[in-house]
Amino acid sequence: MFDLKPAVAPTQKIRNVFAEIAHDSASKHVLGNANYVDDIPQPSKLLHCYIGTSDIAHGRITFMDLSKVRQHPGVVKILTAKDIPGSNQISPIHMNDEPVLVDDLVQFVGQPIFAVLAESRSAARYAAQFAKIKYQELPAILDIETALAAQSFVIDPQFLNRGDSQSALAKAPNRLQGEVYTGGQDHFYLEGQVSIAVPGEDGDMLVLTSSQHPTEVQELVAQSLGRPANAVTVEVRRMGGAFGGKETQAAQWAIIAALFADTTGRPVKIRLDRDDDMCSTGKRHDFLIRYDVGYDADGRILGIEFTHALRCGISADLSGPIADRAMFHSDNAYYLPDITISSYRCKTNTVSNTAFRGFGGPQGMVGIERVIDAVAHQLGLDPLAVRRINMYGKDERNITPYGMKIKDNVLNELIDELLESSNYLRRREQIAAFNSNSPIIRKGIALTPAKFGISFTTTFLNQAGALVHIYKDGSVHLNHGGTEMGQGLMIKIAQVVAEEFQIDLDQVKVTATNTGKVPNAPATAASAGTDMNGMAARAAARKIKKRLVKFVCKKFAVDKTDVRFVDNHIEAGKHEISFANLAEQAWLGRISLSATGFYRTPKINYDPQTMSGRPFLYFAYGAAVSEVEIDCLTGEHRITRVDILYDVGQSLNPAIDMGQIEGGFVQGAGWLTTEELCWDDKGQLRTHAPSTYKIPTCGDIPEIFNVKIWDKGRNRENTIHRSKAVGEPPLMLAISVHSAINQAIAGKLGGDQLPSLNTPATPEAILNCLSAGDKE
Ligand code: MTE
Ligand code: MOS
Repeated sequence: MFDLKPAVAPTQKIRNVFAEIAHDSASKHVLGNANYVDDIPQPSKLLHCYIGTSDIAHGRITFMDLSKVRQHPGVVKILTAKDIPGSNQISPIHMNDEPVLVDDLVQFVGQPIFAVLAESRSAARYAAQFAKIKYQELPAILDIETALAAQSFVIDPQFLNRGDSQSALAKAPNRLQGEVYTGGQDHFYLEGQVSIAVPGEDGDMLVLTSSQHPTEVQELVAQSLGRPANAVTVEVRRMGGAFGGKETQAAQWAIIAALFADTTGRPVKIRLDRDDDMCSTGKRHDFLIRYDVGYDADGRILGIEFTHALRCGISADLSGPIADRAMFHSDNAYYLPDITISSYRCKTNTVSNTAFRGFGGPQGMVGIERVIDAVAHQLGLDPLAVRRINMYGKDERNITPYGMKIKDNVLNELIDELLESSNYLRRREQIAAFNSNSPIIRKGIALTPAKFGISFTTTFLNQAGALVHIYKDGSVHLNHGGTEMGQGLMIKIAQVVAEEFQIDLDQVKVTATNTGKVPNAPATAASAGTDMNGMAARAAARKIKKRLVKFVCKKFAVDKTDVRFVDNHIEAGKHEISFANLAEQAWLGRISLSATGFYRTPKINYDPQTMSGRPFLYFAYGAAVSEVEIDCLTGEHRITRVDILYDVGQSLNPAIDMGQIEGGFVQGAGWLTTEELCWDDKGQLRTHAPSTYKIPTCGDIPEIFNVKIWDKGRNRENTIHRSKAVGEPPLMLAISVHSAINQAIAGKLGGDQLPSLNTPATPEAILNCLSAGDKE
């Protein structure tokens, strides 16, 4: 029966949150024991499929003969658009603008036209190349400028304005115009797109996939099969990286596998080869940003106009909200009184671009940081001084262009601290002295801040669900709608639940995300995974806890104020019972040990019509000082030192958060310096493998890398344990690297014109800037 022990002195609380705890899969990752979709033991009778894609950018199919594909040894079946029983659509926002398989209009090189099913993956891949397809070619729009001139858009342009930028510009004592182009970025997740579809009875389908958005895969698979959502279950244990690339773009491959599985009654797997993954899935949007800024003698911005034009590719995908977020981050950390932002969402005959860490925010921020650097340069001021004079205030100058009042601005304090720890002012002087004696190696230093809005700007997406069971032995099963992509979401949510029950973390089992357990979840995105799922899981845990407390009160005849959960047991007045024993007793007492939890983000209200309101619950803040060296003969650069201070509120898990800050920063530096996407004039991506597309590796990590979580951080909003999101914002701190490179070039060139260094700052780009200076 009850293991009654006299209560001991109040036991130490177990600290499951605010603790440096390793990722739940860390050792499995290192040992190679973590199962990704491709590691799941193959079900019997498994077949493999592959895609056949377009090799032109735009045209109508006039002739297609797949008989040679069909005849290839091992081939079982072929799938074309007309074989799809339900809808042939992968549009995530019901725009009906992107097919699973091309019907007759081909719109980019690499677009899937048919799929082939075979006994082995190599047979399917090999056979796919024997298709005979003829096209009537149409003119292709391949870049932003051409799309703008042709007014080719996937969705209508959007405009956001406050005050009267025209007259503010006209009245301003100084005025400057310019532009900056930011390149795209391939996600380069280590695990490519992959799915297994396993048919069940009555037309049911189980899909094991690598997606940030299992619910959307479920819906789209169901629609393609012409079945209701309850016929499809999608499970995701983990992804080998996603970075936004699996927010919408995992569905297409899952659908193809499911359609084959449905018609053959056999499990079907699809795993894209790296080159095909790079050609056939979308990337970060490249942006052309033009600005016109008016400012005073101190560099204070009085009026500004931005024009954003972004390459969306053939369909809307998530381009609308991404372009919106770029607009919302055109201010970054600065108060811009009179402002107009125009945003053109260009339709091009290239793969449909999609979410990528920061979701348009980074591009918007590059725009304003460039403006600040250009203004400072014109005035001969330290860019830092111009940054500081333009920063949002605490109690005044604190309303964003979209009308949200900033209540949590900590940047001024945070930057003071970073200036001190990084020794910025002193080092700036030393760099100037170094440069004056160094004609070939030139140094640059820059501090840039980041302020990033947390919540989905589409209000209804800000909801989350969780499911918690306690078994009779006291072990806990945790499930929620969020997905694990390496960011450490699962361990953080497990910490929250363990903390709530005051049990050891290893008592909480992290389980695969499954649409059958928690339905209708949004994508794990917008950095809001922990905020939302943490709250939902805590709500579920609290429901069960409440029942347990009631049970304990009755059993021991104590008041609920006398019941405490501590150190794997429960104290009830003079009594004490282990958590495991309590679970069993509660079960015998017929108390439900299972509960769902739900959370909706409070306080947000945003009107997309007027682009105003409060789209974000709060802001995440950080700042970085980066120092670089460039070689003026070769255009190469090195990042010699980086100091970062980042506000994660009260960090739920500083070890995980540090990983996100470091990783995000390095990924941002890759975007801004080495990762270059090159398409040829036929619309073929030329950089579709690691041999030609350079992501950062160990050798590219800053030589000195001082990363610190701000110890004064605390979320003023009631988030889970007052923590703050960390997934995306650190990427934007890498803008300091780009700015520092540009400062180094500027120092070499002299004059008051800031070089127009685009991104990525490859050796070619750096040399071009240096030689443009030579010609003048
Ligand atoms: N970290 C790792 N290791 N792998 C990833 O794919 N994705 C990033 C970020 N950090 C990613 C990552 C992106 S784009 C987002 S939106 C967040 O994680 C999502 O997770 P969160 O909401 O739990 O922070
Ligand atoms: Mo992240 S770009 O919101 O998936």
